[in-house]
Amino acid sequence: MSEDKRKEARKRADRLRAEFKEKNKPLDWFEALYQEADGDPELIPWGGDIGAGSLGKESLKAQNSTKQNSTFHNPWAHGQARLPLLEWLDRDEQKEWLKAPNSKRLALDVGCGLGHNAVALHKAGYQVTAFDISETAVKWAARNAGQFPIEWEAQNLLKMPEGWSQRFDLVSETFTIQALYGEERELAIKALTKLVSPKGKLLIICRGRRDDEIPKTPPLPLMPSELDKIEDYGFVSTFRKEYLDNKTPANLHFVAEFTAESDKE
Ligand SMILES: C[S@@+](CC[C@H](N)C(=O)[O-])C[C@H]1O[C@@H](n2cnc3c(N)ncnc32)[C@H](O)[C@@H]1O
Repeated sequence: MSEDKRKEARKRADRLRAEFKEKNKPLDWFEALYQEADGDPELIPWGGDIGAGSLGKESLKAQNSTKQNSTFHNPWAHGQARLPLLEWLDRDEQKEWLKAPNSKRLALDVGCGLGHNAVALHKAGYQVTAFDISETAVKWAARNAGQFPIEWEAQNLLKMPEGWSQRFDLVSETFTIQALYGEERELAIKALTKLVSPKGKLLIICRGRRDDEIPKTPPLPLMPSELDKIEDYGFVSTFRKEYLDNKTPANLHFVAEFTAESDKE
């Protein structure tokens, strides 16, 4: 992505976020942004080139050397799955867990955007449903990744279909909660926990900040205390990792995996 396009994409996002906040419709700017981009992924700030949410040099080297990722790149002119997700999927514990049952594990990709992470989950071996609040994004993702048997849906995390309650072995969210504020954010975290099956996993990959740190610009990185609260919904924290990306100054990221207790509500 060129630096000019990147700046333009951020400016559009800032303008639309403010415009819809003013209208008291804080979730509607996502659809407006995808519509305005008119099929150009470079006008989506999280369209996903190496700079967007990518990590340090060592990790990039690992990324470039994974077979999964090099094949994954082919159908996309721009964008890629989030590296922390690829690394998490590549962990031995994860691979063991994935192949334990006879049938395929069901994964839900929350706020799927242009679909890169959903494709990575599919390639790792999950049966994937991916959704986004933006109908335009979902159609775009489905078009881009049409060769993969992924179910794409336009849905709002805050109004999940009843049939999705406790349905998914893995609920994976990357960079979505951090885009939400106030009441929507709290409700969204709670909504994520409802989707996970007993003994299933919730994976959160996000920008992070220390509890006493005041963020300057959107997104609003998650605090460890926000992640810790997830245990109150019947989960145990089973993996936590911190990353710094390769920007100056570097941004902190968290990868947080929680496992649902067998009797969670
Ligand atoms: C910052 S983007 C991240 C996209 C993608 N997960 C990634 O890693 O690149 C946040 C995404 O969440 C979607 N989103 C925001 N609020 C949502 C909600 N309440 N329900 C479903 N999707 C939502 C937005 O439309 C956007 O595509």
